[in-house]
Amino acid sequence: MNHFELRDGELHCEDVPLATIAEAVGTPVYVYSTATFERHYTVLREALEAEGVRDPLIAFAVKANSNLAVLTTLAKLGAGADTVSEGEIRRALAAGVPPERIVFSGVGKTRGEIAFALEAGVCEVNVESEPEMLAIAQVAQSLGKRATIAFRVNPDVAAGGHAKIATGKSENKFGVSFAEAERLYAQASNNAWLKPVGVACHIGSQITDLAPMAEAFDKMAGLVRRLKGEGLHVERLDLGGGLGVPYFNQPEPPSPADYAKVVAKATRGLYVTLAFEPGRVIAANAGVLLASVVHVHERPEGRRFLVLDAAMNDLLRPAMYDAYHDIRAVRPHEGEARPYDVVGPVCETGDTFTRDRALPDFEPGDLVAFMSAGAYGASMASEYNSRPLVPEVMVKGADFAVVRPRPTYDEMLARETPAPWL
Ligand code: LLP
Repeated sequence: MNHFELRDGELHCEDVPLATIAEAVGTPVYVYSTATFERHYTVLREALEAEGVRDPLIAFAVKANSNLAVLTTLAKLGAGADTVSEGEIRRALAAGVPPERIVFSGVGKTRGEIAFALEAGVCEVNVESEPEMLAIAQVAQSLGKRATIAFRVNPDVAAGGHAKIATGKSENKFGVSFAEAERLYAQASNNAWLKPVGVACHIGSQITDLAPMAEAFDKMAGLVRRLKGEGLHVERLDLGGGLGVPYFNQPEPPSPADYAKVVAKATRGLYVTLAFEPGRVIAANAGVLLASVVHVHERPEGRRFLVLDAAMNDLLRPAMYDAYHDIRAVRPHEGEARPYDVVGPVCETGDTFTRDRALPDFEPGDLVAFMSAGAYGASMASEYNSRPLVPEVMVKGADFAVVRPRPTYDEMLARETPAPWL
């Protein structure tokens, strides 16, 4: 459930008409609902607790939405943060996430980033390979600090979904195999600079079928039992993120309650703390991208283009993954829906949000909302075509605040410095 709905013929975010935000901030702009973020986090936590999962660490995947207002909203509820760069760790800390609730993942952590994470005191550095484990031990030694680590295991499970976001097969770059995990865990346990506390997995994103998750979680539980059987200390199992969301017109994803049942079944009797790294399931339906119609262009041969002021640089998902986002009129006109190709102004054919989508009629200046854009929307935006970075607005009840302003053109140009010979 989310808090974007039509009231008196007009799309609102909570108690604020989206048109009010468009007027105040301009378009394109991302708009987030505090109540939806809070609800999604709480529903997931309560579902896990209802299945007897005690005190889970729900580490929000910062990459899904890294705005500080979003991270602070979740931190206030007790969320942790799953991070993949020094920048994300800094964001999580700035948002008030305690370091002992920050997980540091990623296949290519640099020594500088590892040092930063260890100094900050993050709760676990997820080791993705043997060379990385050795690098972490060296950095830890140079700092005189023991590194708390977990091994990210690649469970070799195909989770379906788009190939560009599947991570759990052995041909993907992520994590170590089960055999490597057992060998490295024992090795790390004998290293004075490493403190292995657990194992982690993450098999992909926008997963709409629980069977691969159940398979991966069972395999991970088996690994925990084997490690414990070898007398090794295991206190945490991190089951990653990946739960899909309803993008409309797509397979209905499993509910958090069903997901929690799968988790509980796989981990019963393990006596470890469970950690999760959800991103999309918390953020996607908590945000929309609001845009304006620039032109309605009808080709003589029949195609009808809705040209918007938002483009692939603002919302990359359709161009990159052929992702489907529901497109709604903020003030829908009466009348029959007709097929439109919805495009942005960037000079690439890939700057097409959708083709042949049945939509109500539009006029220039009308507002449209891309739904379910709160995850991997603003966080993947760029300034391609020298379009100023898309701003972000947070709504709470009848209030709204600009939480990332649109840079002015002067600010955009001022970030670059002249070469001395020019
Ligand atoms: N943990 C790890 C280690 C991850 O790599 C990811 C996402 C997550 C957690 C969060 O997964 P989620 O719960 O959000 O599915 N840009 C793509 C999605 C990329 C996902 C990358 N990893 C998209 O727009 O669909």
